[in-house]
Amino acid sequence: MTRARIDQDRPKVKRFFASLLITTLAVCAASAFAKGDLEAGKAKAVVCQACHGADGNAGTDPQYPRLAGQYRDYLARALHEYKSGERKNPIMAGFAATLSDQDIDNVTTYFASLPGSKLTDLHGRVQGD
Ligand code: HEC
Repeated sequence: MTRARIDQDRPKVKRFFASLLITTLAVCAASAFAKGDLEAGKAKAVVCQACHGADGNAGTDPQYPRLAGQYRDYLARALHEYKSGERKNPIMAGFAATLSDQDIDNVTTYFASLPGSKLTDLHGRVQGD
């Protein structure tokens, strides 16, 4: 290959590496948002719906928290804490014990994807605030 030929190919090589970089970034960004498998999570969520509501928005009974639309990492942390016993609740300890780390990623990805209101602070809802 002559020097002239190498110079000619340089833009192509640059373009190749640029597209490789963009693809890598896109894959990383996508996995940051959707950590688990949505469909597998949906299947696992069937058992949870008895208490947390068919759409994850719980019912009128305040003892069951809403899961729909909550932050995925918040839900995942809660489930890991029930599993380890750091957060104590006899009902949820039992359900969390049946979930593998992958199941937790999947089921929380599913509930986080459902329409619901995100967590908010208590500003304006607490008396005297
Ligand atoms: C028999 C009823 C019942 C079932 C079934 C159930 N949960 Fe729960 N869940 C509860 C109750 C009650 C709480 C509140 C416990 C507490 O005060 O810590 C809770 C809390 C949670 C929380 C913490 C929410 C928060 O805002 O801190 C998560 C996450 C959760 N459940 C996920 C699940 C998942 C995933 C399943 C299915 C694998 C499931 N639950 C099945 C009753 C249930």
